[in-house]
Amino acid sequence: MPVDVRFGAGCVSELNERLGDRSAVVMAFEPATALGWRAQWTRDLGERLRAWVEVPDGLSSMARCREFAEQVWPVLEAESGTVLIALGGGTTLDIAKVLRCRPVEADPRIDQLSGVQRRTHPAGFDRVADALRGTAPWPALDLAPLWMVPTTAGTGSEVTRWATVWDTDVEPAQKRSFDEAFGFAQCAFVDPALTHSCPAAVTRDTGLDALSHALEAIWNRHANPFSDVLAVSAARKVLTWLPVALREPANVEARSALSLASLEAGLAFSQTRTALAHALSYAVTLEQGVPHGLACAMWLPTAWQLAQGCDERVDRLLEQVLADLDSGAVSSPGVARLQAWLASVGAACDPASHGVHDAEQRVKAALGSARGRNFIAA
Ligand SMILES: [Fe+2]
Repeated sequence: MPVDVRFGAGCVSELNERLGDRSAVVMAFEPATALGWRAQWTRDLGERLRAWVEVPDGLSSMARCREFAEQVWPVLEAESGTVLIALGGGTTLDIAKVLRCRPVEADPRIDQLSGVQRRTHPAGFDRVADALRGTAPWPALDLAPLWMVPTTAGTGSEVTRWATVWDTDVEPAQKRSFDEAFGFAQCAFVDPALTHSCPAAVTRDTGLDALSHALEAIWNRHANPFSDVLAVSAARKVLTWLPVALREPANVEARSALSLASLEAGLAFSQTRTALAHALSYAVTLEQGVPHGLACAMWLPTAWQLAQGCDERVDRLLEQVLADLDSGAVSSPGVARLQAWLASVGAACDPASHGVHDAEQRVKAALGSARGRNFIAA
């Protein structure tokens, strides 16, 4: 895992010094302006800040990546080595992962002795879109240095090599996965203080995403002792601290524990990838607009039920996950305790309550999918 991770409240302040005299373009989630962060960063970065690109809330779609490329690529092209800094939640981080990939071609007008100047390919984003759709190989790329500053505790995107890009240009819309060895950021500043700004719904849904990453790493065919330790630690933290953060949004200990849980879960599933719950989640997000974390969490009880009894390792780890949980009677089956906990944070897990009335058929189909086959009980 090649990402240089900094962690801790206030660690984002190291960014300035680390940048040195390099220039930067910042892609930031929209609330950064109202929170006063844009003004602060603009002051701190001074002349090094070449552009501030605002990313409004929404899906990380192909159409939006295309739109942002028009703003970001000319800035990256103008000065080699310009750092692309992503400040925001999963959507912003995922879009930045795609945009750091700028298709280029050699410019024959440049003297070979002084190096070949690489300019943005005239076909621009079409080349990236074709690669994301798997209809063409990746073109020659100029990869901008990418730094990640997550403002939510959940996606783990800052330590994985993949991103989700929703292809709404085709009918029906498709989920495309950017999943490449060059997808890792160079560094990540995981600063729990930044997550205090999260509204309750975002805190909950991103926390559920982190829990899903952790559990999916446990009931996964690609699990290893390293991912197991991280996943159990992450899941336990979410179960303990998410209810606290929802009750007391300014609780520093809770925010810090959730950021660490998100990071640990991210590191765990960067090894294993996701499994059944994620495989089932994407259609629910696309069709019903259910936020990603909740769309994953609603399938966790189903996956838990199927996973239990399949593998001694998984059973043991799931027991460890629940060890300190006081939701649900201790004598109840694990899945009932998980359901009680999910209900306690207001996460409706009955697929029908999200407009899904063919859950059984969906589970059967998902078990045969690429992600579903990672699942231990597939
Ligand atoms: Fe996820």
